[in-house]
Amino acid sequence: MLVLGIESSCDETGVALYDSRARRLLAHGLHSQVAMHEAYGGVVPELASRDHIQRTLPLLEEVLQRAQCDKAALDVIAYTQGPGLAGALLVGTGIAHGIAYALGRPLIGIHHLEGHLLSPLLSDDPPPFPFVALLVSGGHTQLMRVDGVGRYRLLGETLDDAAGEAFDKTAKLLGLPYPGGPALARLAESGDAGALTLPRPMLHSGTLDFSFSGLKTAVLTAVQKRGHAGLDDQARADIAAAFQEAIVEVLVAKSLAALQHTGLDRLVVAGGVGANQRLRSALGAALAKRRQRCYFPELEWCTDNGAMIALAGALRLESGIERATTHYGFSIRPRWDLESLGGPESVHESVDARRS
Ligand code: KG4
Ligand code: ZN
Repeated sequence: MLVLGIESSCDETGVALYDSRARRLLAHGLHSQVAMHEAYGGVVPELASRDHIQRTLPLLEEVLQRAQCDKAALDVIAYTQGPGLAGALLVGTGIAHGIAYALGRPLIGIHHLEGHLLSPLLSDDPPPFPFVALLVSGGHTQLMRVDGVGRYRLLGETLDDAAGEAFDKTAKLLGLPYPGGPALARLAESGDAGALTLPRPMLHSGTLDFSFSGLKTAVLTAVQKRGHAGLDDQARADIAAAFQEAIVEVLVAKSLAALQHTGLDRLVVAGGVGANQRLRSALGAALAKRRQRCYFPELEWCTDNGAMIALAGALRLESGIERATTHYGFSIRPRWDLESLGGPESVHESVDARRS
């Protein structure tokens, strides 16, 4: 089965072709809007939608050409139906339906976070089920138990800001350009994380939930305390390093607690913040010590892409939990709970990590 994947939920247009029989990604293309949004210090939804309109079809032509494949060979179209920016989702969803209707092919709407959750399966050394997934993106921070395709149990999540959002907002406070996460991580390399002490929110809460808004406020206080004159390059780098260390320590501690709670020994990290090298090395070291295994998707699959959407579509159809539809009327789901995907088994578990 040849699956076309289209991703357009935020500021990246992604298109990919996945061959489910050969279990192989044939080609993929990505256009990032980062340069366009940079001038505004964040994503401007209307500009994002307009750019997706211009990029999607040329990207599709490029991907088909690279895979040496004709449109007529496509079996099914997978597209990101939500969650995300409504206008941006409408573009990808509309184009997906246009292609499907023109070719007489069925479609499947994909939950963006399911794409992230399953993206490590694109790697050459994919994790077997079951595993715990740490999903850390610009909009979400969740720990999930993943027993199979569509079988997701929420163990804990952020009560306020997502990890990527905390990186982005803190970066802004430090005068760094959008997107803040990678810029802050780069600045942190020349900083001393021990130069100041920042809180580790909810580290000892006894649950697997997170909270990052207090950390951002602590950074604001540290910045204000130094004043304009005291905030030289070294001070900014120190704050960046201390912030990164605090967030990484909480993510590592909660991930270890989730493994202990579930009795599983495999952790999969997905989402844009999974590209953070400090998080990768800290998690890798902590799990290796316990003889547990940490799986990271390749960097290109950490951030938004079309390949994870094509893969999620292929896996949902193969596993039989969903059928592709030839109903060409469409809707988007800008807000969509991941747990609602898998039926009764996928529920939010109430976790008291102290008792596990
Ligand atoms: O998964 P993603 O590409 O988009 C969403 O679905 O949100 O994640 C984007 C987020 C942004 O907040 C970005 O700043 C963050 O991931 N990010 C990073 C790094 N690379 C991307 N955060 C920390 N360190 C990085 N190296
Ligand atoms: Zn994402």
